[in-house]
Amino acid sequence: MSADTHTAQAFATSWNNLPEGSVYTRDQFEDWMAPLTRKDIEGKTVLELGCGNASLMVHMVEWRPSFLEGVDLGDSVLTAEKNMAGKDRVQVTKADLVAFTGTKLYDLVYCIGVLHHLQAPSKGFESMLRNTKPGGAFHGWVYAREGNGFIVLVVDPLRKIASRLPWWFTKYAIAAPLAALFYGYAKLLAILPRVRILEVLPLYEYALWIAKREYAFFRHVAFDQLVTPQTAYIPRAMIEEWFASHADIDHTSTYIIRRNGNSWKFGGKKMV
Ligand SMILES: C[S@@+](CC[C@H](N)C(=O)[O-])C[C@H]1O[C@@H](n2cnc3c(N)ncnc32)[C@H](O)[C@@H]1O
Repeated sequence: MSADTHTAQAFATSWNNLPEGSVYTRDQFEDWMAPLTRKDIEGKTVLELGCGNASLMVHMVEWRPSFLEGVDLGDSVLTAEKNMAGKDRVQVTKADLVAFTGTKLYDLVYCIGVLHHLQAPSKGFESMLRNTKPGGAFHGWVYAREGNGFIVLVVDPLRKIASRLPWWFTKYAIAAPLAALFYGYAKLLAILPRVRILEVLPLYEYALWIAKREYAFFRHVAFDQLVTPQTAYIPRAMIEEWFASHADIDHTSTYIIRRNGNSWKFGGKKMV
């Protein structure tokens, strides 16, 4: 089994043990996709690389793409298909996104929360571009190296152990209590006044973002972090290198946006 297949199967234990529907709110979806909005999607062909249980596609389909395809290497495609049941012009495909070449090129290719779990993140970026039409757009989101010192120091060593344990043990005996601690921390920060001194606290901005959600979402995120055997933290300079090494990108269209202080949204357009 390849390292990426092992990762995708680990994620399937997360995605296939959730209630039906999206784990994300509409606001979260829109925040992940920005600066793209409904007008960039309506009537366009769209591909999601690494779609999990189709939690983003549930929202994406509401923006009326002319065709929406989700690709994942794990058995989460089973729940993705259930979540997309009855939707027109939608397809879920089980495939390795690194090698994936669709039957067509897409107006938009997006890849949220996936590249940092690949054995070779740059190969995932290449696939995003390869599947984008000339003149089309690509959009991604990755964990940043910047702003994640606490996670790299504390959570990542724990992940290396937890990802080898039975998934149910990791979820209920490790992720659940850690999520409860972080839930208390985030809810406390959310009620405190927004004073600059607090910004030095670990994951401050991220805590304010996730504090809008209920405990079950905290547990989902904690389990997602701990169940995967592969995670990289991507410095901004690496995304700049990805951009620089592709002559087919329209370099006037690119963006790299810091999100919640600990991740990068990036994207742009392919040359016509
Ligand atoms: C953290 S989840 C993100 C899912 C979805 N994009 C979202 O934001 O809800 C990462 C997903 O990438 C998938 N994945 C990992 N490596 C892959 C690969 N080589 N090809 C296709 N999917 C892959 C995993 O199976 C998992 O569902």
